[in-house]
Amino acid sequence: MKRIGSLFIILFIVGIFQAFVVVRQNNNIPIVHIITPFAKDGFKWDAQLAYSISVEDKEDGLSKYEEITESEVFLKIKFLPDSQHRAAYEKEQIEENSVYTSLKKNACFNCHGIHTKIAAPTYESIALKYQKTPDVFKKLGSKIIQGSKGVWGDSQMMPSHPDLSANESIEMAKWIIKHGSDMDFDIRVGLKGMFKTRKASNDKTHGQYSLIASYLDHGINGKDNKEGKHLVVLNSASK
Ligand code: HEC
Repeated sequence: MKRIGSLFIILFIVGIFQAFVVVRQNNNIPIVHIITPFAKDGFKWDAQLAYSISVEDKEDGLSKYEEITESEVFLKIKFLPDSQHRAAYEKEQIEENSVYTSLKKNACFNCHGIHTKIAAPTYESIALKYQKTPDVFKKLGSKIIQGSKGVWGDSQMMPSHPDLSANESIEMAKWIIKHGSDMDFDIRVGLKGMFKTRKASNDKTHGQYSLIASYLDHGINGKDNKEGKHLVVLNSASK
């Protein structure tokens, strides 16, 4: 009887070990790294700041070998007056991550810049146009699902996004109105680029930039996608 008991224990341990091996074959988390700027260098007011990002993913490949699709690498840029505001902002970014991820996955930022015009109206101009319109989130949400033509000029149209749920599209519209009207917030696509820091004003002699780079990998057969992130905080250098 005792022997049977210990046999069961051994089988149990082997089972746990096998389950562990299976888990270990799961998709790995990509390593995203903001190479420049360095946190220690801080930032200068009213200046061009260059950034570069690297991505390493066991399954998708390495950005240095051009194995990572550049349009899937994103940088969130936000100016904040101090660490207290930054903590609140970063908490909010975690809460908003699922809508941000669906905006990225649906290639919304490939046509819409936040403040910089690419192919489509910027989110800033969409926010300006609709932020005072009542019940606008539902209306814009259904436009996002159905596609749009003729509102912003005849030459362009937005494709439909039939896979989005009504709720997801409403959350997207809220995100667009909120962040589009924020001049201290921007999103950049790609592994490198530049952005202009804000001007120092009398009431803002100190400040911080929060830079969050992210990459969502392709998972294994499109499943179990994992996101890698890197946060760098830049403090204002003296004027
Ligand atoms: C292929 C480019 C393209 C993609 C991808 C794209 N859009 Fe658009 N979007 C446009 C164009 C062009 C317009 C302007 C259409 C018009 O004039 O009616 C537009 C308009 C909009 C509008 C304003 C609609 C209105 O009635 O004024 C919103 C909101 C919007 N897009 C959100 C999104 C979201 C969210 C996504 C991702 C799910 C997305 N777009 C993806 C090109 C695109």
